[in-house]
Amino acid sequence: MRFKRIKGTTDLYGEEINFWHYVEECAKKTARAYGYGEIRTPIFEMTELFTRSVGKETDIVQKEMYTFNDKGNRSLTLRPEGTAPTIRAFLENSMITNGLPQRFFYIGPMFRYERPQSGRLRQFHQFGVELIGSAEPAADVEMILLATDFLKRLRITKYTVQINSIGCQKCRAVYRERIKDYYRPILSSLCNDCKQRYETNVLRLLDCKKDSDLAREAPKMIDFLCDDCRAHYESLKKLLKALNVSFTENGRLVRGLDYYTRTVFEVHHDNLGAQSAVIAGGRYDALIEELGGKSIPALGFASGVERLVMAMKEEGIRVEQTEPRHVYVAVLGEEQFSVALEIAERLRSKNVNVVVETNGRSLKAQLRHANRLNVRLCLIVGENEVKSGVVILKDMVKGEQIDVDIKYAIEYILDYLKEDDVLN
Ligand code: HAM
Repeated sequence: MRFKRIKGTTDLYGEEINFWHYVEECAKKTARAYGYGEIRTPIFEMTELFTRSVGKETDIVQKEMYTFNDKGNRSLTLRPEGTAPTIRAFLENSMITNGLPQRFFYIGPMFRYERPQSGRLRQFHQFGVELIGSAEPAADVEMILLATDFLKRLRITKYTVQINSIGCQKCRAVYRERIKDYYRPILSSLCNDCKQRYETNVLRLLDCKKDSDLAREAPKMIDFLCDDCRAHYESLKKLLKALNVSFTENGRLVRGLDYYTRTVFEVHHDNLGAQSAVIAGGRYDALIEELGGKSIPALGFASGVERLVMAMKEEGIRVEQTEPRHVYVAVLGEEQFSVALEIAERLRSKNVNVVVETNGRSLKAQLRHANRLNVRLCLIVGENEVKSGVVILKDMVKGEQIDVDIKYAIEYILDYLKEDDVLN
């Protein structure tokens, strides 16, 4: 019986893994550059954490969660996102005793039972950041700067930053009524999903793909913001302009999670088709209280690693091999194995990546393998070589080979690789 991977999941290896290492490295470097520290939370949590935070009526909670009962009959859910777990951890571990604000980042798998398509998976990966404890527009600016700095480090250039303010609970209630008024006369002509959303989560009508023309004409949240929310949004825009961050305002940007307040933003890549949001986030000033903490403002974003890798490929961005094999030690005859291993161990202690033949094959087969591994150098250790104290070093790029005194083989190889600038 051969097994297949679960629909909507991927196996990552070979060339592809270089992109992942690169994205993860850039993510960590960017987060640390802004003073964010890593947090790792469990892959599963109590189901109620997500129903309470993401929202009962959202697509995520209604249709997409991997929820199951464990053997103790507790309802658990594979995390569909990283914000609620971060806040749960912040509260549970009384991190507030370290003062505010606090900055966290995470990288890891998330799970949503969505219809798989290009850029949409059931197990996908996010790099996310959360800033807990600032209500100021300066924090919103930091978020957007961090997001665009991250893309810059990835060398991604074809994107647009979209921002909007969805106000606070007070002004959004007024807006919600206006949207209901707007859609009420045409309710029967809406798609089935929208008919249901009209009752449960009316703002989601604004980002329905099927009824997008109607959404374009709908009243905009921006016209209903209360004075405080408007001032907050205006300051954010002013700061972004002062810092020369380009952005567009999208009055229909509402986001698919319920915890947002005021600023929401998304970064869309220009050439990714339907699933083009590579980064998305916003403010969630009421969430911490909702989860049993004090009233503490907070905000963050998450980016989908799969989509970032797609965007990089789309832009023709190349990355270096992150796991190069520098040297292949070819061994001819079992007796030579200990000499070969000793050389290999000494090279490894100098940060050289070495593969030693372990299969006792012919020289031809070993060289073929070395070629496939893309090694720079091949060191041939045979009976004659060990007896005479001279080993053969083959340059796999130039195809040349030379005899090297076994005593100096290590230094020779190190010089060779240093010239290539492959050692760090
Ligand atoms: P989200 O918009 O649900 O927000 O997801 C953020 C990003 O994760 C998306 O823009 C996309 O790049 C990626 N993503 C989401 N679903 C999938 C999927 N099925 N397949 C591939 N990639 C996907 C959140 O998750 C919020 N927690 C973000 C946040 C953090 N807000 C404040 N702090």
